[in-house]
Amino acid sequence: MPVAPIDPPPRLLMGPGPVNADPRVLRAMSAQLVGQFDPWMTATMNETMALYREVFRTANDATLLIDGTSRAGIEAALVSLLEPGDRVLVPVLGRFGHLLREIAERCGADVHVIETPWGTVFDEEQLADAVRRVRPKVLATVQGDTSTTMCQPLSQIGAVCRELGVLTYVDVTASLAGNAFAMDDWQLDVATAGLQKCLGGPSGSAPISLSDAAVDVVNGRRHVEAGIRESGDDDRGERIRSNYLDLAMILDYWGPRRLNHHTEATTMLYGARECARLLVEEGMDAAVERHRLHGSAMTAGVRALGLVLFGDQAHTMNNVVAVEIPDGVDGDAARAQMLTDFGIEIGTSFGPLHGRVWRIGTMGWNARRDAVLTTLAALEQVLRAAGTSPAPRAGVAAAQEVYA
Ligand SMILES: Cc1ncc(COP(=O)(O)O)c(C=O)c1O
Repeated sequence: MPVAPIDPPPRLLMGPGPVNADPRVLRAMSAQLVGQFDPWMTATMNETMALYREVFRTANDATLLIDGTSRAGIEAALVSLLEPGDRVLVPVLGRFGHLLREIAERCGADVHVIETPWGTVFDEEQLADAVRRVRPKVLATVQGDTSTTMCQPLSQIGAVCRELGVLTYVDVTASLAGNAFAMDDWQLDVATAGLQKCLGGPSGSAPISLSDAAVDVVNGRRHVEAGIRESGDDDRGERIRSNYLDLAMILDYWGPRRLNHHTEATTMLYGARECARLLVEEGMDAAVERHRLHGSAMTAGVRALGLVLFGDQAHTMNNVVAVEIPDGVDGDAARAQMLTDFGIEIGTSFGPLHGRVWRIGTMGWNARRDAVLTTLAALEQVLRAAGTSPAPRAGVAAAQEVYA
């Protein structure tokens, strides 16, 4: 049976991610492969590490890529930090907090959870109190929980944790580069991300950074595979329960010894490097400001279309807005019309918010004025077709006022 070449339909991806990749990232990903120990390749890996130090705002040596989607980064961090029986505290503000909890449970950890209603965040004092009460080995939290669009404040909790000898892990998949994040200034130990949100790339690579303290914990369980072991490679501690996501081994691969582990996903490395290169060229503050500007324009636009914003507006992410689906409107049918008539994808959410909210993103390459205005123009038509009465041109006009 003849199979056609890949030819995806044109889409403007304005959901909570993935978003359209920056064409410059796609171009970088079409470059030819080189061998995994070619000096050019290892130099490119080192360059990528340096670039991601700027993106995470850290001096951490151990700043690299995990091959896999963001979830692989999360899992690498947790399975490498947590031994069975270790206590971990997980504040849950949405779906991705539940994911951390689940992964920590799979690691056999003693998982303590605190929850806040979806659409709210924790006060950092609340987090500090819970850390003091539970005294975990690791506090594992999400910065931007895309499921609710909330951005958890985290600038103070790292210092509290350091004083108590608690390691911090933060999932910044959806928030990095679109919202303020300063790994070293905030004294956070481990952070993991993905490319498909504000970094403007495809999913499939998970940037990660670890403080020296976190590296010491991971290396306390360092084992070298039998086939590549040399004299002096003594096993330490209990073996990490995943081979592919064993950070001690992955650090040996990205470090000066270049000990073979997996074969680095070369094309994803090119893409991840270009995502970071573009952000560093723009400047991290400028990237956050770009997301703030276009996110504000989208928010003003959807409000002017008569939609009600979901969640605590003092703590929303810059790069995705959630709105209540109006009474009487079939949310999934409206999203389908956005896609079929206008080629624009917007999202709903998960669990308790499925069918209750739409989530509209302005991130990565799509944090652009034309993308915002086009989405608002289309949404106005879809809302009218669904029986609501948005004032003509109101959404576009309100966004243009933000840009004026
Ligand atoms: C905050 C957060 N964490 C983790 C993930 C999982 O990422 P991936 O699908 O790349 O594994 C997502 C994806 O939307 C996310 O928004």
